[in-house]
Amino acid sequence: MRDRRYAHPFRDLRAKLRQAASVCVLSGAGMSAESGIPTFRDAQTGLWANLDPMQLASEAGFRADPQRVWDWYQMRRDGVRQAEPNAGHVALARYAARHPGRLTILTQNVDDLHQRAAAQTGEGARIVALHGSILTDRWLDACPRGEDLMRRPCEPSRAEPGHPPRCPDCGNRLRPGVVWFGESLDYRDLTAAEEAASACDVMLVVGTSGAVWPAAGLAARARHAGAHVVILNTQVSEIDDEAHIVLTGSAATLLPRLLDPL
Ligand code: APR
Repeated sequence: MRDRRYAHPFRDLRAKLRQAASVCVLSGAGMSAESGIPTFRDAQTGLWANLDPMQLASEAGFRADPQRVWDWYQMRRDGVRQAEPNAGHVALARYAARHPGRLTILTQNVDDLHQRAAAQTGEGARIVALHGSILTDRWLDACPRGEDLMRRPCEPSRAEPGHPPRCPDCGNRLRPGVVWFGESLDYRDLTAAEEAASACDVMLVVGTSGAVWPAAGLAARARHAGAHVVILNTQVSEIDDEAHIVLTGSAATLLPRLLDPL
């Protein structure tokens, strides 16, 4: 545990979390690692350790080999559907249920596990899924119908089965509802995230390498706005310098210790 100024980091932090009017969590793949979902950049086990993200998580990669990308996401979706929220997700959901309106979760994860923990525990947190959801689809291209109201629009429900499914009228392809490299975040999500980061008293940065922007920049935004920034990670991250305190350990272990029963 690398604490810079605190003799009793947990006790001091719990006091801050008890008093805070607004708490923000920025979470990454490490948050779901103990639910059995691989991270991206962990050596050996991370998805990008053996796969090229530009081939599998970019529009160009999808257009180059739609079947490979679609099947890879189907495989990941199966893993996500079988996964369960871990003790870290549950601790956040319970804290939020006990303090409605206090917690905002800004997640880079596309696995819906924060949402599922909230649904199981009682809504309380506002959850912003910065990178979308792997369990949803959307059309690759804008519907060619455009202004031609005589033509039926592309409807996912009518998509012809395939790898990927296609619109029977125009051949438009379905793609996973996630944000790929080179794509912008939904501006409403990014605006909500920036507002929450600027308004929070405490930001917990959980299980992210801090390698991907603009999400990684939210920790600095919170710190510059006066929030107390705490990093929870099993290893050193690229944004440790933004933290007032770094707690080394796993999300499913540290979060219950920090939040139960605050
Ligand atoms: N508890 C806490 N932290 C953990 C755990 C754990 N059990 N296991 C791993 N970690 C940490 C790792 O040390 C690492 O710093 O989680 C981090 C995971 O980092 P990445 O794999 O880079 O994932 P993330 O930061 O979420 O990636 C950001 O990159 O590939 C894109 O769109 C994808 O949203 C993703 C974005």
